[in-house]
Amino acid sequence: MAGRIPSTFIDELLSRIDIIDVIDTRVPLTKKGREFQACCPFHHEKTPSFTVSPVKQFYHCFGCGAHGTAIGFLMEYENMPFPEAVEDLAAKAGIEVPHEEESEKPRENLAPLFHLMTQAGEWYQQQLKSHPQAHSAVDYLKERGLSGEIAARYQLGFAPEGWSHLHEKIGQDEQTTAQLTRTGMLIQKDHGGHYDRFRNRIIFPIHDSRGRIIGFGGRVLGDEKPKYLNSPESPLFHKGKELYGLYQARKSSRTLTQILVVEGYMDVVALAQYGIRYCVATLGTATTSDHLYQLFRSVNRVIFCFDGDRAGRDAARKAMDTAIPLMRDGREILFMFLPDGEDPDSLVRKEGTQHFEQRVTQATPLSHYFFTQLQEQTDPHTIDGRAKLVALARPKLSRLPAGMFREMMFKQLSTLVEIEADTISSHLLEPTEQQPPFPRTAQPKPQQASRNTSPSPVRIALSTLLHHPQLIRLITETTYLKQIDTPGVTLLNEVIETLHQSPNLSTAALLERWRGREDESLLHKVARWTPDIPEEGIEKEFTGAMQKLKSLHQEQQTDQLLRQSSQRALSADEKRQLQQLLSSS
Ligand code: CTP
Ligand code: MN
Repeated sequence: MAGRIPSTFIDELLSRIDIIDVIDTRVPLTKKGREFQACCPFHHEKTPSFTVSPVKQFYHCFGCGAHGTAIGFLMEYENMPFPEAVEDLAAKAGIEVPHEEESEKPRENLAPLFHLMTQAGEWYQQQLKSHPQAHSAVDYLKERGLSGEIAARYQLGFAPEGWSHLHEKIGQDEQTTAQLTRTGMLIQKDHGGHYDRFRNRIIFPIHDSRGRIIGFGGRVLGDEKPKYLNSPESPLFHKGKELYGLYQARKSSRTLTQILVVEGYMDVVALAQYGIRYCVATLGTATTSDHLYQLFRSVNRVIFCFDGDRAGRDAARKAMDTAIPLMRDGREILFMFLPDGEDPDSLVRKEGTQHFEQRVTQATPLSHYFFTQLQEQTDPHTIDGRAKLVALARPKLSRLPAGMFREMMFKQLSTLVEIEADTISSHLLEPTEQQPPFPRTAQPKPQQASRNTSPSPVRIALSTLLHHPQLIRLITETTYLKQIDTPGVTLLNEVIETLHQSPNLSTAALLERWRGREDESLLHKVARWTPDIPEEGIEKEFTGAMQKLKSLHQEQQTDQLLRQSSQRALSADEKRQLQQLLSSS
């Protein structure tokens, strides 16, 4: 795993990109004074209350309370995890993301493990050509219609019968043995010793997107069980992230426009044999969001190919659920169902390339499949059935990122259940108690909590400082702040300290510094609330709050000294201090 991303890099990243560009390409913004506005993408509204500040590099919705930085926006709007959002912005800014080494667990140098996998892959490939028993494997591949060219392209190999050929070949010293075991190429016996994982099998090397071998799949030559053996999870190989054949598909074309996702190694290879080179396979697992991120990095159209049976339809529904949060405008997901009893390998042999590709072009778009399978579960001819349909659709559609696609899905649903589109969308986007659609930031009526009590000086100081970090120049003395006992003052002190160290941080960079910390939500609470004062009054507001804190400090000091004087004799210093305090108040 990559280490932590250093916070100084986040500062730099946020200073290089512009939140206006990031948001404007997704939610068109209109300039309004010094800020930019749009209708909020995180809740349903007709007049814009979503504001983006170029100075603060911060967005805020006065309607639902959603707010954050460019990174936070991508995380919410595109449903990206934090590292993905950072990578995405860094790629646009043309800078590379550095990773700090984890302090307790130094990052392992994986190069030796990659090297062993390359050696193993080459050795298996060579065995397919020259091992005395390789003819059975070669015959098998020929019988399945594969040419030498395709075998070479996918670097297919052969693991001969025997318990320790690979081990002997690569090296039996202690270090090599340990490394081979970590990659899963060797299996450790209970009572000492090791043996080769892959024996008497056809070998399919699995590559990462850079073309390095990270694992293998091995198929028996006949009907023995298990049919396939795969590399286990290892420091190199995570099957929930990798796709078999992606490296070859990307290499086959500079202008890859679509990728077909199938189930098996043999399907990928057989389709390539028939000239269909844009195929990948999940490695015996359901489709994950990590798979989809990988795919959408290469293309905008992903077609899932499933068996036509029940298991295939279940798998399709699961893939759809995983895909929904990633369906931003411009991306397409389609489903293709095969006739009973066929897999892509058998079908392309039977029908040929042209027919098979015709099926690909006729695949069902996610939007269509979504409503078809809902209609299969309900009866749209009755009111009850239509209500059930909306109930089933709601949790899924509310996870769609905002955009034209979401609008169109709402429209379609409204036609199906014969309800006005506006009514439907506000119903779907309205937060429910059990399941708010945007749980991470959207907080309805954020100002309510502070309505009855006037905000504390700490809160005013924190909020003004957060929104106008340049005010830090007014703070020269901090000793008294460290002695005050009042809610929030610790956070205020830390913000001040951070700004003293890095006075040029923007609001956004400051917020990002708090990501993942225990008091992150506290800072966000403050960020959501801005005192309702004109720009020119802010400095006064801030110094006023700081002054109040100074007075509070004096009061607390006085109280403390008075309390102590009733218990013991004060020192000369303390007496002088108390006198001063009493005369100044
Ligand atoms: N699989 C696996 N372990 C098994 C069976 C299957 O890991 N014991 C995974 C493999 O990645 C395999 C995929 O599931 O490629 C699909 O399985 P299946 O359809 O049974 O295999 P095919 O790829 O069709 O292989 P073949 O045509 O050679 O039977
Ligand atoms: Mn098959």
